[in-house]
Amino acid sequence: MGDNKADDALIFETRGLTKTFGPTVALNSVDFKVYRGKITGLIGENGSGKSTITSIAAGMQPPTSGEMYFKGQPHRPSSMIEGAKLGIGMIVQEQGTISGITVAQNIFLGEEDKFGKLGLVNKARMNAEARKALENIGYTGADPAAMIDSLNFQDRKLVEIAKVVYNAPEMLVVDETTTALSQSGREIVYNIMKKMRDENKAVVFISHDLEELIEICDTLTVLRDGVLVTTLDREEMVPDTIKRFMVGREMKGHYYRNDYGAAIHKDIVLEAQQVTSGTGMLMNFSMQVHKGEILGIGGLSHCGMHELGRVLFGDEKLLTGRVVHQPSGEAITSPQTAMSHGLGYVSKDRDRESLVLTATIRDNIISASYDKLAPKGIMKKSAVKTFVNTQVDSLSVKCASVDQDVQYLSGGNKQKVVFGKWIGRNCDILILDCPTRGVDIGVKAAMYQLIYEMKQAGKTIIMISEELPELIGMSDRLLILKNGALAGEFVRSPQLSENEIIEVMV
Ligand SMILES: Nc1ncnc2c1ncn2[C@@H]1O[C@H](COP(=O)(O)OP(=O)(O)O)[C@@H](O)[C@H]1O
Ligand SMILES: [Mg+2]
Repeated sequence: MGDNKADDALIFETRGLTKTFGPTVALNSVDFKVYRGKITGLIGENGSGKSTITSIAAGMQPPTSGEMYFKGQPHRPSSMIEGAKLGIGMIVQEQGTISGITVAQNIFLGEEDKFGKLGLVNKARMNAEARKALENIGYTGADPAAMIDSLNFQDRKLVEIAKVVYNAPEMLVVDETTTALSQSGREIVYNIMKKMRDENKAVVFISHDLEELIEICDTLTVLRDGVLVTTLDREEMVPDTIKRFMVGREMKGHYYRNDYGAAIHKDIVLEAQQVTSGTGMLMNFSMQVHKGEILGIGGLSHCGMHELGRVLFGDEKLLTGRVVHQPSGEAITSPQTAMSHGLGYVSKDRDRESLVLTATIRDNIISASYDKLAPKGIMKKSAVKTFVNTQVDSLSVKCASVDQDVQYLSGGNKQKVVFGKWIGRNCDILILDCPTRGVDIGVKAAMYQLIYEMKQAGKTIIMISEELPELIGMSDRLLILKNGALAGEFVRSPQLSENEIIEVMV
């Protein structure tokens, strides 16, 4: 490296970078290049590997194999702190600040020693320096002494940005940050990126917003299913071209349902009526779900689909509108009312929300059915045993015993336990948020079979997913969300293609 004139500006490079999570190949031998004096855009469908490649560069996780070079040196940071010390700063897709401490403490986390000796921090000095860090990015909205928790999502993001920029990185990664920001917040981020480019530093910018990518980036790299598909120059950055490179995920195997043309039942079982969620992500949103329907819900990461799942289950505060169960006509206002009307919900984050990892398989499976198993408050051992064994057997959960703690099961088997918990309850309407995330093909196929059997039994399934092939393969009807609003509706058909859907999604 370095001896090639054209590559003088090369600052970061991956060679054959590969990352697997169990059966999932998140990155497949990727050669990715980032140059000084340029804003390098990164685009690709959900799950194409954008966050994975940049987080490996920043030191948040190690690769499975392959090499990285930063400023001509082999690069293998063991933590985000080490990555930052080497000169790579990353603004992450999720919340990047820590609750329970002040704005200034967040900015100088782990570096408090700068402001005092022997653990005595000069708070006034630290706050003054924090103010400078905030002003440096053109943000004056937060008091450095305020608790971070008093700030909203956007302001917390801006504090995180100030922190990353304060460390003067030579390469800055901005991972899908702008979609969550208002115009003024976006302007701040655009200005930082442009300033860094003008200072001959490097920027990697991940976004789904074609307009802003085309406007801001010097080159645009497209990832698809963990493979680097192409890198486009400015003159090649045309929306249709970009979309064409993004689509084309392989529809591997034939494990989806293969029936077409079934009529959609006319009875509605659940509807959202002009719902505006507390976070403002969904605005005046209305939709209906029919009996026996598999309703797919898709879109890009921040389109509001995950929030919609929680709204339908009564797990989000609503500013306006309501969610109504039919034919009872009753409003779903909490998970309790949802469950009493036969709703079940499997969250995307199954480890955090759907399972108690330190409890046994048995206790997890019965946890949604206490009212049914013990109507008078007393649970019969034999009834519990039959109940649990029925679920474990019909789902073929691979375990030594139902007394085993859930935490030691594989991802696929954990997911089966979550399914068992709700199927055992005999739900009429099951909301599944990314049900096949991180499970292998075999478990996926079993889930699709189960979902289909539930439909055949007259149950209603709402399947939220980031994977278009399974949405196309399984849904009777498919709703695509964009920026918290309905962008398109598709009815099951063998002709339905990813291209049509991407067209309204991006
Ligand atoms: N910690 C993890 N455990 C299991 N699978 C993961 C993990 N992180 C990412 N993945 C999977 O790796 C793939 C790439 O994910 P990611 O890099 O987050 O995609 P993107 O940022 O492009 O949406 C996806 O299939 C995702 O489900
Ligand atoms: Mg991502």
